[in-house]
Amino acid sequence: MAKISRRSGRYPALRWRKTRHSNRAVTEEPGDDSMGTFVIEGGRKLSGTVWISGSKNSSVALIPACLLADGTSRLENLALIRDVQVFARILKDLGANVDFQGHSITIAPNGFSSWKAPYDLVKQLRASYYLMGVLLAKFGRAEVGLPGGCDIGPRPIDQHLKGFKALGAEVRVEGGVVKLRARLLKGTSIYLDIPSVGATINIMLAASRAEGTTIIENAAKEPHVVDLANFLNAMGAKVLGAGTDVIKVRGTKSMKGATHSVVPDDMEAATYMMAAVATRGNVLLRNVIPRHLEPVSAKLREAGATVKEEGDGIRVICNDRPRAVNVKTLPYPGFPTDAQQPLVAVMATAEGTSVVQESVYDNRLGYVSELIKMGAHIKVEGRTAIVEGVPYLVGAPVKANDLRAGAALVVAGLSARGRTEVHGTELIDRGYESMEEKLSSLGASIRREE
Ligand code: EPU
Repeated sequence: MAKISRRSGRYPALRWRKTRHSNRAVTEEPGDDSMGTFVIEGGRKLSGTVWISGSKNSSVALIPACLLADGTSRLENLALIRDVQVFARILKDLGANVDFQGHSITIAPNGFSSWKAPYDLVKQLRASYYLMGVLLAKFGRAEVGLPGGCDIGPRPIDQHLKGFKALGAEVRVEGGVVKLRARLLKGTSIYLDIPSVGATINIMLAASRAEGTTIIENAAKEPHVVDLANFLNAMGAKVLGAGTDVIKVRGTKSMKGATHSVVPDDMEAATYMMAAVATRGNVLLRNVIPRHLEPVSAKLREAGATVKEEGDGIRVICNDRPRAVNVKTLPYPGFPTDAQQPLVAVMATAEGTSVVQESVYDNRLGYVSELIKMGAHIKVEGRTAIVEGVPYLVGAPVKANDLRAGAALVVAGLSARGRTEVHGTELIDRGYESMEEKLSSLGASIRREE
């Protein structure tokens, strides 16, 4: 069982990351598509302390942002997850110098000279589209394949492309590759039709080296947008208003390297909060920003759990069967779509009927059929799940079809009677560091089988 180190309050690095000066481990792993399974013996209350890692969605914006600088940057509190590894590998392929030291990475863009991103890696993760903004800002040219990522419905990038065009780029999409070209990027006003996280970040990246000021209206307000703004400011750009729906970016010709600590992962934290409630447990989450978790905390309180700040963390206690709650997912500060699946896993054994509406993605309820295999009573109508709570779930073999679906099935397996096999750990590893080690340290019976 993995123990939290007393000195650092952290978990030991994953087995396959043991190489301390770890370029080797980092460059070798992303191509590994081996399927894994979590085997869970459910029904154990979770109790103890869990350390929350740095945010995935922040890291995948901060890592490419390092390429904007002329000097070396360092990111700390980085989660050791697959998406981070893949991005680090892409940067190496583009010619940057990338070096991991535990949960930190230094990125020196000195040898970086290519505006063509490697397609086989780009297709492995959604956030590779941030290379469009970065390469365009740095070289006035970018060729990046259309991104991969979780299969949760069509995920157009029209708002990103609209932003690049407004900044003065010529945009073509040919053979699945987005080709961008601009003689000069010039600040302008861009109104987003929807507050897209990806489009907001991509436009911020491109605008940070553009001439003049760019104004993004109806911008996304997620914590990782603010985290990126703080990093860009440390690098010499001037970003104002991040966290509100109007962001102003005053570009600069040259950006310097900076050191930055990645904001804690609110969605990893939300998953452990759900796991605590699902198992009627008592868990203290450390390295969290309680305000970022408020939409989730409020819902769990409504469901009957105690959620309170304690020191630098949040404690979640649930002694009784939770009550059903109704939820509609919305952009931040609404209830996050990324916590919808784990919440449904909790509501599957709640007292009463919950109505859960997914309003961000077209197709984020596919995992429900797996929960039904475990005895859940859930009906899906369009983008709404009607969850009639049952007294308990029963373990079964199930398959993750995306990252958060995998997390939800783990939450369900932890609360279920008997043995659950969650197939598809490689999807869970995209966004959760050492999940089985963290859960084991809280008293869960969970092991990984390759
Ligand atoms: N959309 C468009 N056009 C665009 C951009 C987005 O129609 O140009 C639509 C999308 O199809 C979607 C909605 O707008 O229906 C929201 O998309 P958004 O751009 O906000 O999301 P994203 O940037 O693709 C990020 C996270 C997701 C998270 C969403 C919403 C990263 C790498 N991904 O995606 O994270 O669900 O924001 O908060 O930051 C996850 O971590 O599991 C995950 C999927």
